[in-house]
Amino acid sequence: DIKGFAFDLDGVIADTARFHGEAWHQTADEVGTTWTPELAEGLKGISRMASLQMILDAGDHADDFSQADKEALAEKKNHHYQQLISTLTEDDILPGMKDLIQSAKAAGYTMSVASASKNAPMILDHLGLTKYFVGIVDPATLTKGKPDPEIFVRAAEVLHLNPENVIGLEDSAAGIVSINGAGETSLAIGNADVLSGADLNFESTSEVTLANIEAKMQ
Ligand code: G6P
Ligand code: MG
Repeated sequence: DIKGFAFDLDGVIADTARFHGEAWHQTADEVGTTWTPELAEGLKGISRMASLQMILDAGDHADDFSQADKEALAEKKNHHYQQLISTLTEDDILPGMKDLIQSAKAAGYTMSVASASKNAPMILDHLGLTKYFVGIVDPATLTKGKPDPEIFVRAAEVLHLNPENVIGLEDSAAGIVSINGAGETSLAIGNADVLSGADLNFESTSEVTLANIEAKMQ
């Protein structure tokens, strides 16, 4: 039975996936990569440097950039992103997610955060949600990012739970693969065609209530 939840952050708890997209779109324009919906979707859940590499590869200019160039581009994107999220408040919690987190806590579930973002602790503070989580996996300590299972394996360890007792929540295809690889139950939020590998599918965060999750698990 389920005893805990491992939450992705961007696009699951916080309405920040669009800001990552906006900032990466500017990077793509700068390096001459055509920005497409498919590229935007594929970048979700992917670490900062791996995202940049995907953008360079998509533009076929990967060889034109030195390591120093790449670090400068990633730094510039992060600066832009941090400007976009500097005014985040509780109002930027996605619909229903505060209710879910509060009701899960009240019902005795434990929760951790499995985000690839180095900005996650700051965002959770802005949203006033830090106190609900027993821990946040530090992505700087991972050897591999999503879709590798490592981050969700670690998120279960933070909870002191076996993976089979954990539901992982994700809005990205890479994240669903990671949850499944970790042996947890995968709960996808978004387009079910894109997130077809998930155990449970929800169209939007507002449908992800504790009652709906428990009903689908039966
Ligand atoms: C999350 C987002 C990605 C982002 C990654 C790294 O997984 O979904 O879009 O690239 O975090 O975020 P960071 O804030 O460390 O650049
Ligand atoms: Mg996400």
